[in-house]
Amino acid sequence: MTDGQGSGLFIAFEGGDGAGKSTQAARLAESLEAMGCSVLRTREPGGTPIGEKLRSLVLDHGNGTIDTRTEALMFAASRAAHVSQVIVPALARGVVVITDRYIDSSVAYQGAGRGLGTEDVRRLNEWATEGLWPDLTVLLDVEPGHGRERRTAGAAAEDRLESEPDDFHARIRTAFLDLAETRPREYLVLPANRPIDELAAAILERVKALLGASR
Ligand code: TYD
Repeated sequence: MTDGQGSGLFIAFEGGDGAGKSTQAARLAESLEAMGCSVLRTREPGGTPIGEKLRSLVLDHGNGTIDTRTEALMFAASRAAHVSQVIVPALARGVVVITDRYIDSSVAYQGAGRGLGTEDVRRLNEWATEGLWPDLTVLLDVEPGHGRERRTAGAAAEDRLESEPDDFHARIRTAFLDLAETRPREYLVLPANRPIDELAAAILERVKALLGASR
């Protein structure tokens, strides 16, 4: 379904920290597998050996100062490897690829959050991915304060990006919503605070419609 990329389907989950993306990505993968689909779940930054190394470098505290352009390039480098080594080959095999974060995260976090400019960051990533966009982006919209409550409720400490102040996360939220508004047919925007089962059902319904249209 993705232009020139074989018959797979490419789905990205996006949203602020603490939105519950991983839970919903897992639920969707389980449902699709139960329907007999071949599914690959992956995440960014990461998804390849080099990507996982870049993930620790860019997210862990204690790697010294990482200026904003370096940060944007590290996310883009991880993504370039992810697309060429994992996503494109899987799509070519007809697999449904579900990624936890993709280009929109860079546009929102580095473009809007860090102030590098959403258009420049979009262009950088379009180059890095050779223009591969998801067939569907599921945006789980979370209010910054609520996201922080959810992620600090667990045992894990906040990473370099998560520990930025609420106004940083507010800029990110606005940027995600703006992206969804620009291309409404390629987005499903859901309030992250809805019950897990309700969200999972809405996402599955939309993906089934896409699968029906493409197969
Ligand atoms: P994520 O893996 O969703 O965090 P966790 O699994 O720990 O909840 O994302 C890691 C962080 O990296 C998150 O704060 C968002 C940030 N990020 C960017 O700033 N730019 C990007 O391009 C990506 C993919 C993530």
